[in-house]
Amino acid sequence: MSKGCSAAGLAALAALVLGLVAPGAARAEETIKIGLLLPFSGPFAETARQIDNGVKLYVKQHGDTVAGKKIEILDRDTTGPAPDVAKRLAQELVTRDKVNFLAGFVLTPNALAVADIATEAKVPTVLMNAATSIITVKSPYIVRLSFTLPQVTVPLAQWAAKNGIKQVYLMTSDYGPGHDAAAAFEKAFTAAGGQIVGKVEMPLKSPDFAAYVQKVSDVKPQAVFLFVPSGQQPTALMKTFAEQGLTRSGLKILATGDVTDDDVLETMGDPALGIITTHHYSYAHDSQLNKAYVKAYAQAYGPDIRPNFMSVGGYDGMAAIYKAIAELKGNVDPDKVMAAFKGMRFESPRGPIEIDPATRDIVQTVYVRRVEKVDGKVVNVEFDKIPDVKDPGKPR
Ligand code: PHB
Repeated sequence: MSKGCSAAGLAALAALVLGLVAPGAARAEETIKIGLLLPFSGPFAETARQIDNGVKLYVKQHGDTVAGKKIEILDRDTTGPAPDVAKRLAQELVTRDKVNFLAGFVLTPNALAVADIATEAKVPTVLMNAATSIITVKSPYIVRLSFTLPQVTVPLAQWAAKNGIKQVYLMTSDYGPGHDAAAAFEKAFTAAGGQIVGKVEMPLKSPDFAAYVQKVSDVKPQAVFLFVPSGQQPTALMKTFAEQGLTRSGLKILATGDVTDDDVLETMGDPALGIITTHHYSYAHDSQLNKAYVKAYAQAYGPDIRPNFMSVGGYDGMAAIYKAIAELKGNVDPDKVMAAFKGMRFESPRGPIEIDPATRDIVQTVYVRRVEKVDGKVVNVEFDKIPDVKDPGKPR
């Protein structure tokens, strides 16, 4: 027996010889795999790019090894709102690739389609955007590092009621987050004495906004409240408002920050000026950490793309995964991982965030912003904030 051989080394060798541990299994434990499901192609490709950029920036800054384990990210293209595709890809990632985490999810229908897989296979699943309240209720293995529509909409309805707005017309997408946004706005606004003078739901796939915007001209409400998913739709919607002469008509435009997404705000240009939104992240957020984030993002991806809330969802989602792995010293038992997520808190480029241990949803500051031109750039300027907002969409 050689003196240089440790007892542990001998035991491992003996286990191998006896066939107790397959060599593949021994190696597999050294890698922690994350299946990243995003719509890399199709109409939501830009949102996928932003989340992916945030994920990869975090890895670039923090290295691809945590607690001695190599982190491997497996990108999978869900192609858009396609629950069947998302489900099939998640199934493959879990059974064939044996991922330890699922992550990503721009779109609610895709996240909902994966909830049962997360539960049955016990795979911690990190939402980096999908923002319908109910998703986290669908599996105890889902945690959200993004936001929910009710979380950002209730503060907007309350702000509107306090600031002389009495009548609002609702225009929202006809699927989960749009339903959440419309319901949250109506409840909070009418509770504060406001009145909803009409509402319309617009299709998620290839909406033609002209007829919907025409209806606003006919009704002539004091204000509109808008939610469409970030990506291509906000610019198309605001273009239609401008074409129909509604952006300088005195009509007050209220929206969730999805509509004035930093990624497309410059393209949207002047028609966006004056829109009041609420959201959890503006690339103009004034903090040391955000300034460093914006700078690092520009260094990594060039000056032509601004980081938006999707990128921060990806960045913070990775931060949560890295922190859980580090806390557990690399032992990514799914129940221990979920316990590590619960109550986790850290500073994000958006501000302080915390995971509510009761709901696995995020608690964060919601900012009230106005689109303004600052130094020639069109930006969401934060002018008020409500700290520690929980998702009001959950029964408590
Ligand atoms: C969603 O499908 O949950 C979703 C997508 C884009 C957004 C917000 C929510 O901007």
